[in-house]
Amino acid sequence: MRTIIIIALSCLILSPARADEGMWIPALLNKYTIEEMQKAGFKLSAEDIYAINRASLKDAVVGLGREGQPFSHSCTGGIISDEGLVITNHHCSHSMIQAHSSLEHNYLRDGFWARDKGEELANPGITASILSRVEDVTEELLAAVATKTGEEREKALKEAIARVERAAEEGTNTRASIKPYFNGTRYFLSIFKIYRDVRLVGAPPSAIGSFGGDTDNWTWPRHSGDFSLLRIYAGEDNEPAAYAPGNRPYKPAASFKITTRGVQEGDFTMVFGYPGTTREYLPSFAIEQLVEVDNPSKIKIRTAKLDVIKRAMASDELLRIKYSAKAANVANAWKKWQGEIKGLTRFRVAEEKRELEERFTRWAAGKPEREGLVEQYRRLYAGRRDLILAWNYATEAGTRGAEVMNLIATLRRRFRELPDTRDLAAYRASLQETVDAFFKNYDAATDRQVLAEMLRLYNSAGLDEQWIPDVVKFPDPPGGHERLAADLFARSSFTDPARLSRAISRLDARSAERLQREPLCRMQEGIDRFAEQLRGSLSEIQGQLDGLDRAWMVALMEMQPERHFYPDANSTFRVAFGKVAGYEAMDAIYYKPNTTLAGIMQKDNQGIPDYNAPARLKELLAAAGNVPVCFVATNHTTGGNSGSPVLNADGHLVGLNFDRAWEGVMSDYAYRPEICRNISVDIRYVLFIIDKYAGANHLVGEMTLVE
Ligand code: ARG
Ligand code: GLU
Repeated sequence: MRTIIIIALSCLILSPARADEGMWIPALLNKYTIEEMQKAGFKLSAEDIYAINRASLKDAVVGLGREGQPFSHSCTGGIISDEGLVITNHHCSHSMIQAHSSLEHNYLRDGFWARDKGEELANPGITASILSRVEDVTEELLAAVATKTGEEREKALKEAIARVERAAEEGTNTRASIKPYFNGTRYFLSIFKIYRDVRLVGAPPSAIGSFGGDTDNWTWPRHSGDFSLLRIYAGEDNEPAAYAPGNRPYKPAASFKITTRGVQEGDFTMVFGYPGTTREYLPSFAIEQLVEVDNPSKIKIRTAKLDVIKRAMASDELLRIKYSAKAANVANAWKKWQGEIKGLTRFRVAEEKRELEERFTRWAAGKPEREGLVEQYRRLYAGRRDLILAWNYATEAGTRGAEVMNLIATLRRRFRELPDTRDLAAYRASLQETVDAFFKNYDAATDRQVLAEMLRLYNSAGLDEQWIPDVVKFPDPPGGHERLAADLFARSSFTDPARLSRAISRLDARSAERLQREPLCRMQEGIDRFAEQLRGSLSEIQGQLDGLDRAWMVALMEMQPERHFYPDANSTFRVAFGKVAGYEAMDAIYYKPNTTLAGIMQKDNQGIPDYNAPARLKELLAAAGNVPVCFVATNHTTGGNSGSPVLNADGHLVGLNFDRAWEGVMSDYAYRPEICRNISVDIRYVLFIIDKYAGANHLVGEMTLVE
């Protein structure tokens, strides 16, 4: 009897409802997914999340983007008032806050709070998309390519996509975007309204918004108040409009209610947002290549770059300010790639995939279109190995190596307009603008050292001769790579703002020609040409891999009919669900799921810039007692989910997603429920900062707070 009870109990414990993994399409929360969600504790219906004939929670979700590329959402936001107030991360608004900052008004350092709508700050170029509806257009698109293969298929597909998108937009003020799902075996059309007047309403100082900085980035426990407030403005008719002072606050169909009840271990959580890219269905060969070739080479190159930048930042306060955003940017992916290697190795992801492939090969024997897929994968990835290594050097160390390479690339492109330029004065002025923007946060001495390191790396990486373009072949230059870089810089007009401005002020076709003969410019051109060549070879392999990925997905679904597949992230609207949960990070280390203000006091160190807690926050702590700050949960998220609203079982806002925990950042390739955690700022900390720290209670007054 006892044994039976114990077995029954352990079954319960060992087989929890397999929630956690997956980024689901809200428009398809078919019976299975919504049932799973309800089993996990969700109290609402699928129509409460996504409906097209009535208001639903999806109407309160915003994809943030830029004019010209509104469908690649860099971040997510949530509408929290019926006057279009939007909450997103601090790091999502970073560039807006920086753009409005000056020496007199340093909003990054001091924070910014508009006292009324008149003080809210416009952000030209920022867009906020709200999803109207999603339609399955698979049949129509696949019919258009049915008899075609290879390049012909690609071309026909592109045309069909454009045709269906245009038809959906016709006569409306909506924008349509079709993207592939399940490795391109299905296609969905998303229809958006894209608002173009998005203003900055509030942001805490960086010492709160990115407390912990790069030191804590990608790790738990965390103590960042990573939030900011924006507002969407619309025309008279509540429809999208270009910025105009007379625009009105957008009246949303739905907004999120905020609960002050808080979250506890085990509570249901759900994340809405626009996750960017994941690859959960890659073969073992791809994972091996990622761990052995791709990530290590990129990490090595960025390590060298960061070493130079960090040394510069430590040596000089002005350099620290100039390079802080750049360093954060370079370091973000650099750190994640390292975490991916660790996680993929520790959780034996390649081995497990190999086991699946062996099972597949046995299953596929004798099935004409299935047999041999694994073998084809092996062959294609083998052919890709050296190419991807060379590509990483050409791009990470070359075109994106020293910053000046970027400037040269831009100017070389612009120089091509010269023959057709009528108004030379306007042309020169616009070049000068580009140049000014570049030099605003540039230090030539630092960049020169970066170039030296990139040249040294290129020549000592053990690359095959053919993968080193002639222009950077300097295995042992007299005086070393430092001297070589110094020489290139000294002979370049592109590294000296005064010299470059002078050249631009009298630029014509002839002098542009002369500028492009400078050795540094030649070097950039040579790397560029090499990268182009590699891109060609790589995209040929990629084209074949795409076809294989489609066949693999179809076959896998056939082999595992009981498995519930979700499509990889592709910057479209998704919902992830899971629960608040701590985790065993390493042997003997268990992390609890919640952090509090007390932890900020423990980390506080005025000698370390990342850990400077503001004095006022410390005073408040003494008065307020212990306020919750962040929490971790098992929601499957990735880049793009920054700023995503995190909701409880009632659909009320409990937090804001902003990161993932170190031990599980391999989740873009393999999600493991025991270790993968998303990190959110607790909405109670957000309210505390707005209300108690900033005294901006008028903003809290706009929100709907519930128990
Ligand atoms: N890792 C987070 C993301 O991928 C946060 C990045 C910004 N924060 C930072 N300390 N660099 O966007
Ligand atoms: N910080 C990421 C972003 O900006 C989210 C973290 C992740 O990659 O999961 O989207």
